[in-house]
Amino acid sequence: MTHDEVVKKHKEYVFPCVTHYYTKPLVADRGSMQYLWDTEGHRYLDFFGGILTISVGHCNPKVTGKIKAQVDRLQHTSTVYPNEHIVALAEKLAEITPGRLRKSFFCSSGTEADETAVMLARMATGHFDVVALRHGYSGHSLLAKSLTAHSPYRRAGIVSVGISHALNPYCYRCPLHLSYPGCGVACAEDVEETIRTTTSGSIAAFLAETIQGVGGVIAPPKEYFKIVFTIVKKYGGLFIADEVQAGFGRTGKHWFGIEHWEVEPDMITGAKGMANGTPVGLCIATPEVADSFKGLTISTFGGNPVSSVAARATIEVIEEEKLLENVERVGGYLRQKLEALQQKHSIIGDVRGLGLMQGLELVKDRNTKEPAPEATNQFMELCRNNGLLVGKGGLFGNVIRLAPPLNIQKSDVDAATEAMDKSFAAVKL
Ligand SMILES: Cc1ncc(COP(=O)(O)O)c(C=O)c1O
Repeated sequence: MTHDEVVKKHKEYVFPCVTHYYTKPLVADRGSMQYLWDTEGHRYLDFFGGILTISVGHCNPKVTGKIKAQVDRLQHTSTVYPNEHIVALAEKLAEITPGRLRKSFFCSSGTEADETAVMLARMATGHFDVVALRHGYSGHSLLAKSLTAHSPYRRAGIVSVGISHALNPYCYRCPLHLSYPGCGVACAEDVEETIRTTTSGSIAAFLAETIQGVGGVIAPPKEYFKIVFTIVKKYGGLFIADEVQAGFGRTGKHWFGIEHWEVEPDMITGAKGMANGTPVGLCIATPEVADSFKGLTISTFGGNPVSSVAARATIEVIEEEKLLENVERVGGYLRQKLEALQQKHSIIGDVRGLGLMQGLELVKDRNTKEPAPEATNQFMELCRNNGLLVGKGGLFGNVIRLAPPLNIQKSDVDAATEAMDKSFAAVKL
């Protein structure tokens, strides 16, 4: 099909809520490592990786080779029969996740992973209320949309029973109008205030992304999660770290984002980059929490041999190629280059993130911090014209999200930041 046929049929046959980037949508044709090609033959350096999902490069042969072999051997059985691949993956996850996390439940998406974690927390604690964060994103189901705190994603008849949203640790736009570190991380105390004023006084869980992705790459101050952890325990809750975006090496040095905050969560949820593009979802818990699941449940595709093989192969590439170190090194280099761009282009109000999960918040004026969503769209179009794909996020649609594969090199950062420099220079405010 040609570009125009694809776009036309998409309009005709796919739900319109499934929207696209760019005034002329990019119809993807093929990918190889850090590059993506469209149907018209243009090559792009991909710094968004299918929304933080391409961890080790498009169609990385070390992953696809194992997927192909598994597809030819055994594709699906469901979980009514155990198989080698689900247990091998679960064992590996128990090894690489922090603290006492040991038992896994597999499903097909981050949405289901978060659903599972909340369901399990309610059973494990006997409590019902859940505290999430404003600006957070949890997925597509009714519960996940209830946890989500972005109005455009909540216009689906959402009734949030038993979910409260605490203030966000969003330093650039502090909800308390304070400045870090003089603020004493006062926003963390709002979790306690939220529990005392909007719940029954005991909670099943606190659930948060360690770095909010859709919210615009918002990373809390280094003290934040430790303070919150103590509050969550005081009110009988479990701490759920949503690592759907920040997990599996993306933040550098550690496998999971939460490890940077030195907190041992009771559960971690994962998806996206875990299997380099093969659909997968994970909820991993401590043994006593996992064992408290009452009754039966099943996810037909959970722990599918092909997804399990893809996830293990992805983890192996991250290990073999020492990508946790690479992310720290190349991510640090990217950050330096982004800060240099900020010096040059006043539209960049804030640079933030960890490792290879970085964000640029674009503003019309650095003093008023008025968001610049139109300029953000313009910048994305210009980057595309300059051969670079970047993502977008933030409540106001004014945050550029950068999340290239974990195995990129400094030369890729040079190419990307050159394209960004050129694009920023051409943006008209
Ligand atoms: C932090 C976070 N949690 C959960 C989800 C939901 O994952 P999925 O789209 O795989 O259902 C997403 C998706 O973007 C996410 O970013």
